[in-house]
Amino acid sequence: MAHTEEPQSSDPSGEHEAPLGDHVYDGIQEYDNPLPRWWTAIFWATFVFSIGYFFHYHLSGNGQSVAQGYAVDRRAADETRAREALTQNVTEELLASLLTNSAAVDKGKETFIGKCAVCHGQKGEGLIGPNLTDAHFIHGSGKMMDLYDVTSNGVDAKGMPAWSKQLGPEELRSVVAFVGTLRHTNLPGKAPEGAEHPPSQ
Ligand code: HEC
Repeated sequence: MAHTEEPQSSDPSGEHEAPLGDHVYDGIQEYDNPLPRWWTAIFWATFVFSIGYFFHYHLSGNGQSVAQGYAVDRRAADETRAREALTQNVTEELLASLLTNSAAVDKGKETFIGKCAVCHGQKGEGLIGPNLTDAHFIHGSGKMMDLYDVTSNGVDAKGMPAWSKQLGPEELRSVVAFVGTLRHTNLPGKAPEGAEHPPSQ
């Protein structure tokens, strides 16, 4: 039988230092060569790394998986998009349509009394801030988008706050809608400021 034959050495010179393995098959034996040192070094390095990895990602609760990182990024991107959509969707048409939306106008009136009346008067007739009921506008020509822009961004140098920082998007739109209803109602109050822009413009 083959495996009872005497093993044949493939290294007759006898220079090979590794011991021969026990297993003989068809008269062939293998040297029990040690693994190269670089290989064992990498093996142990990955092993040690895996312990740290396992601890960090699975036990400590500090590690963020790729999926979690992705979810966090997604949420941030969604929030940015939602914020952009809220401002991008504001158009002259949308704001004009709110002028006849009594719920929006009523809500806007509440905000106006609460936040704007100190400077613009209870009815928008003007105090420190300009009269909002005349046909004169310092900023823009009295279009809904003009009112929206100045209300959102404010006029820092003149003491008109930037309301986009303090009011939610809906509150902002509705207060602008209310201010829109004041235009050209010409309440007696603060003298006109800015350029005149009749309703037709
Ligand atoms: C602290 C005082 C103050 C408050 C509060 C204030 N405003 Fe004003 N607002 C001003 C001043 C002052 C101006 C004039 C800015 C200028 O001269 O450029 C102004 C200008 C404006 C204009 C532009 C008018 C024009 O002729 O172009 C609008 C619209 C306006 N405010 C809306 C609002 C609304 C809406 C609110 C409340 C959410 C508000 N303001 C709250 C002081 C204020």
